Amino acid sequence: MFLKRLELTNFRNYLRQDIEPGLLFNILTGKNAQGKTNILESIYLCCTGRSFRTLKEKELINWESEFSLIRCLLETSRREIELKALLKPGQKKIKVNGALARGYPLGWPGVVLFTPDDMVIIKGSPQERRRFLDSEIGPFNPQYGYYLNRYQRVLVQRNNLLREVREKKSKNDLLQAWNEQYCHYGSKIIFIRLALLKKANPIIRKLYRELTGDSEEIDIRYHSSVKIDYSFSEHEIFTRLTAELASIKKEEIERAQSLIGPHRDDLVFLINGNDAKVYGSQGQQRTIVLTLKIAQIQMWNNELSEYPILLLDDVLFELDSLRQKALFSRVKDKVQTFVTSTEAENINISGDFYKKLYTVKRGNILS
Ligand SMILES: Nc1ncnc2c1ncn2[C@@H]1O[C@H](COP(=O)(O)OP(=O)(O)O)[C@@H](O)[C@H]1O
Ligand SMILES: [Mg+2]
Repeated sequence: MFLKRLELTNFRNYLRQDIEPGLLFNILTGKNAQGKTNILESIYLCCTGRSFRTLKEKELINWESEFSLIRCLLETSRREIELKALLKPGQKKIKVNGALARGYPLGWPGVVLFTPDDMVIIKGSPQERRRFLDSEIGPFNPQYGYYLNRYQRVLVQRNNLLREVREKKSKNDLLQAWNEQYCHYGSKIIFIRLALLKKANPIIRKLYRELTGDSEEIDIRYHSSVKIDYSFSEHEIFTRLTAELASIKKEEIERAQSLIGPHRDDLVFLINGNDAKVYGSQGQQRTIVLTLKIAQIQMWNNELSEYPILLLDDVLFELDSLRQKALFSRVKDKVQTFVTSTEAENINISGDFYKKLYTVKRGNILS
């Protein structure tokens, strides 16, 4: 899949800008605060329905303007897609080939984004790792977002009820009704996560070995708050979750909190058996993130027979030339890539494959 044309109107510091990107490498260079990341953000927004920098759509609209419009023309192996994102204060409308889009269905225009902030996948809180996992599963499982949404609603209600039971405002047996739904959606979420990890793990292990010259092994474990393992069926997870909830009922009421379930789970990255969050060097942690990103691209292709667009925002100077080569050798000739950097020299793309170079200056793109 590739982006044939991008048109921006009043988006961030761009008033009017059209570009026709190249099929493979597109390199955006320029000084700081000129609008390089804004371009990646606009592509990401069209393809996922949200920004990776803000939840407030208003910030995306040019300060001097009342609205913002992004138009993307994409070509996939199956069809041509026109995406339009119209933003007004407090309003966001996304149209796909002229029709208003509700959700983002399976196989939706894929983007893989890689920024220096992605180190939080390793170093950050469990919540960051869950967020990563959830956003990665979404494109491969059309129901996942729905289950997650339902679970989160039930979780809020259940926590409220636990508080009421503690304060004796509600009866204990009301919990039973909520537990049913809680375990229903909770077990679905855990099951889908495990299934994705089962598929991703061999890909990640192979890549990591290649990237480290066979000297290191990676293993990703799903660290669940419920005592389950990879061999469990959805029903077995449901049963286990239900049983464990019953056994911690008193504690949950005392603390007025749901203490087990997918919202309490985490991922652990082990390098040669040691937790990379605690023991990994900066270099090893970077290699893990790089591995995850390449694995995402390969999974897209395995699952959906399509390559996503790759957005690399300011990451290249963090990757030494060996890691850059490892990345580029796996995406060249296949993946349309947008790279930003303050210095074109930071980018070690060798070989004679196609590159398009853009210079970004104060919300203008000069090719
Ligand atoms: N809504 C907006 N309207 C106008 N300018 C904006 C808006 N949001 C951000 N900017 C400007 O965009 C620039 C930052 O763009 P960015 O793409 O992050 O820069 P970089 O080239 O460093 O990646 C800054 O100059 C900022 O003031
Ligand atoms: Mg930037």
